[in-house]
Amino acid sequence: MNIAFIGVGNVGAPLVDHLQRLGHQVTIAARDPQSSTVQAALQRNPQLAVAPPLAAVEAATVVFLATPFAANEAALAGVKTALTDKILVDCTNPVGPNLAHGLHSTQAGAEFVQGLVPAAKVVKAFTIYGYENFDDPAYPGYGDLKPAMLLAGNDAIAKQTVADFCQALGWEPVDVGGLAMALHLEHMTLLWIQMARVQGVGPGFVWARLSR
Ligand SMILES: NC(=O)c1ccc[n+]([C@@H]2O[C@H](COP(=O)([O-])OP(=O)(O)OC[C@H]3O[C@@H](n4cnc5c(N)ncnc54)[C@H](OP(=O)(O)O)[C@@H]3O)[C@@H](O)[C@H]2O)c1
Repeated sequence: MNIAFIGVGNVGAPLVDHLQRLGHQVTIAARDPQSSTVQAALQRNPQLAVAPPLAAVEAATVVFLATPFAANEAALAGVKTALTDKILVDCTNPVGPNLAHGLHSTQAGAEFVQGLVPAAKVVKAFTIYGYENFDDPAYPGYGDLKPAMLLAGNDAIAKQTVADFCQALGWEPVDVGGLAMALHLEHMTLLWIQMARVQGVGPGFVWARLSR
C-alpha cells in the first residue's frame, strides 16, 4: 500500500521503518527534508521515500499524522483537499498542562482533527502507549496473547485497513467504536503517561484483552 507520514519523530520513525520493511511503499511527507527527524528516519531506513507534503499525500492511500497536537492545523492546512476520501491515521494526543486533556475533555482530539479535514476518514490509533512500544511491540512469554492496540473511527473499511496494519505490526487490534470514543483513548494515554513516566513504572508495559 502507498502510505505517507506527516511527522517522523519519536512515534513516526519506528512506524515508517516497520511499515516499509513489511513491504509498503512509505513516503515521508516532509516540509523540510533536511530536518533532524527526517534525516534520522532516513538513516535508520534508507529505503524510505521523501516528498513534499502535497505530493506525498496525493500519491498515498493512507496517511499517518504523527505531529505535536498543536501543530496539526498547520500540518494539515496544505493537504486538506488531497485527503478527500483517504484514511488519516491520527496518532496525535492533546496533552494539556499537568497531564490534563488538552481539549478539557469536551471533545476528542481525533474529532478536532476530523474537523480540520472533514472529507478524510480519520481513525485514531497508535496513541495509547509510549513510542518505545511502537518500536518494539514484542512481549514474549504470553503465548498467542498479543498486546492490544485500541482504535476508533467512523468508517468501518478504514478501521479494518488500520486494524490490518496493527496486526501486521504485532498488535491485537481492538475496535472500540466511533471516533467520539477516541476521547476515552486519549484518557488512557494520560493514564499510561502518568504510570510510565511520572510514577516511574517505565515504558515497558501495555494492555491486553482477555475474552470469553
Ligand atoms: N512520544 C510518545 O511516546 C507518543 C506516543 C503516542 C502518541 N504521541 C503523539 O504523537 C505525536 C508526535 O509525538 P512525537 O513524540 O513523535 O513528536 P516529535 O518527536 O516531536 O516529532 C514530531 C514530528 O512532527 C513534525 N512536525 C512538527 N510540526 C510540524 C508541522 N507544522 N508540519 C509538519 N510536520 C511537523 C516534526 O518535524 P520536524 O523535525 O521537521 O520539526 C517531527 O517529525 C504527538 O501528538 C504526541 O502526543 C506521542
